[in-house]
Amino acid sequence: MIRRRRLRVNETIRALVRETSIQISDLIYPMFVVEGENQKNPVESMPGIYQYSIDRLGEELERVNIRGIKSILIFGIPEHKDEVGSQAYNENGIVQKAIRFIKKKYPDFVVVADICLCEYTSHGHCGLIKDGVILNDETLPLLADAAVSCAKAGADIIAPSDMMDGHIHAIRTALDEHGFLHTPIMAYSAKYSSGYYSPFRDAAHSAPAFGDRKTYQMDYANVKEAIREVKDDIEEGADIVMVKPALAYLDVIKSVALETDYPIAAYNVSGEYAMVKAAALNGWIDEKKIVMENLIAMKRAGAKIIITYHALDVAGWISNN
Ligand code: PBG
Ligand code: ZN
Repeated sequence: MIRRRRLRVNETIRALVRETSIQISDLIYPMFVVEGENQKNPVESMPGIYQYSIDRLGEELERVNIRGIKSILIFGIPEHKDEVGSQAYNENGIVQKAIRFIKKKYPDFVVVADICLCEYTSHGHCGLIKDGVILNDETLPLLADAAVSCAKAGADIIAPSDMMDGHIHAIRTALDEHGFLHTPIMAYSAKYSSGYYSPFRDAAHSAPAFGDRKTYQMDYANVKEAIREVKDDIEEGADIVMVKPALAYLDVIKSVALETDYPIAAYNVSGEYAMVKAAALNGWIDEKKIVMENLIAMKRAGAKIIITYHALDVAGWISNN
């Protein structure tokens, strides 16, 4: 008889033959930074996640450091928004200030800068708008400026999340022109128009004031299109490609993994986090079991990097094992 259960008899044997694991070094922890002083504002729909002002960011950075997490993704929430998102590419914008602060305190952290306009525009869209229409090509220089200003502030990785066509090329060219030849780009390549971002939009105050993002973010019915997006971004200069969201898109991660040997990042987004947290807080599921199962599924599908709001908890669980 074929006895498959031989390799399941105890945890040591199971661990010997285990195909997938999560290392703390795979994780990127997203953080929200706000203007002002003495701010630690809870994000209602994301229990455990807060917006910090720079003077209190150190508390959270220390927790990140103690857990052994070295990579963080920074989102900024500016005081003033305008039509052209000028705070996104202001050298003294909230994100640029936060990056300088972090790199001074923890020079060996890898700081990933999300590049987009939606947190900074009064209309909440990811590009410039004219008569209700997104101006793709006119948006590119602003994204490039935002990327260069973050690189100048010390960002180690540039992560464009806007989904404009040609953005990776525009940003790569601008980074190179300013001497940032070795600053990698992690492209949000297959980024879907998704209901799973709504807690994030509460956290970042970035919900679109009218319409939706369906003319630039992908239709969730498509997977071949994700391959085209990934290939375009690699051709334009991406070093890491991302699939976002993660859980309902494991097939997309897998398809991308079969098509490219570039490192793949999975973004375990705010709505995925909120659902797990809500059920766990009700005592309906075992949070640790569910989170580990979800994250392993992303790795099994083919992701190398996982961006997750659970990162601090996961790092604690892994190191206590
Ligand atoms: C900005 C951006 C978004 C997320 C990351 N960068 C929101 C959006 O596109 O509306 C979502 C992250 C999450 O839900 O955790 N473009
Ligand atoms: Zn955006």
